Amino acid sequence: MRVIKLFYTILKDKLRKKNAVQRVLARIHWQEFRGLRFKAGLWGSGPLYTAYHPDSYYVFRAHPEFKELFRRFSASNAWNNGGDTARAWSFILNIKQVLGDGVPGDFAELGVWRGNTSAILARFAAATERKVFLFDTFEGFTPEDLTGIDATKDTDFNNTSIELVKQVIGGDIRSCVFVKGFFPDTIREEHRSRQYAVVSLDCDLYAPTKAGLAFFYERMPKGGIFLLHDYSSMHWDGSKKAIDEFCREHNEYIVLMPDKCGSAFFRKSK
Ligand SMILES: C[S@@+](CC[C@H](N)C(=O)[O-])C[C@H]1O[C@@H](n2cnc3c(N)ncnc32)[C@H](O)[C@@H]1O
Repeated sequence: MRVIKLFYTILKDKLRKKNAVQRVLARIHWQEFRGLRFKAGLWGSGPLYTAYHPDSYYVFRAHPEFKELFRRFSASNAWNNGGDTARAWSFILNIKQVLGDGVPGDFAELGVWRGNTSAILARFAAATERKVFLFDTFEGFTPEDLTGIDATKDTDFNNTSIELVKQVIGGDIRSCVFVKGFFPDTIREEHRSRQYAVVSLDCDLYAPTKAGLAFFYERMPKGGIFLLHDYSSMHWDGSKKAIDEFCREHNEYIVLMPDKCGSAFFRKSK
């Protein structure tokens, strides 16, 4: 902190002495410097991270929702998400792109856990009068899915509750519909009869990932987007296998994100 203050004092001093053009150039550098996100890992929130914010945010002041959304994205999950600005930004920018392209439909997430990604979906769904369907057991993995390629995985993610998800999402919860239970058994006519513009699949395992791709793809208009977490993290082979098989069958091609857990995206091409 002292180093930053010292840097700021020197820069301000320099600014006073420069002409107008030099002042503008120096200001751009200062904004780039401020664009670096520093997150100290004290108090159990994780190690020290540095990363750039996009210029559109720090220089041009676009995306005013970022600060609050990032707080929700890392709430009760600082260790995994607290430094993952790449993932948060790639979700925000791509959801905005899909909305800007006028793709119709609601949003959904399969694999909600504590609602950190759902909070981002809920913000943009609420702003455009859409619904977000949140599918999860809210009790973690089900033994039924822990077979085949996932046979060695442990039951996990049972440390959550719908109450906690509501707190993480905050006021945008009005756009959310909770669908509690084992997917795909929880699918009802209300879900079958809809279109989905944005779908986050983050259920880690082969069977639900495969079932989620099949269900939502059929109901997604051209240009809709799948946000696929953990594709290249190397933690979850089952999820990667399901995505590879599905994309081969449907001639879709994913784009990889350089975020912590190897997200991948594709926008429906036909
Ligand atoms: C990695 S967590 C989701 C993390 C969350 N998307 C986030 O942003 O932090 C995986 C979730 O998938 C859920 N899940 C896995 N298989 C499921 C199934 N067959 N039905 C419902 N939920 C499932 C688990 O309960 C768990 O909460």
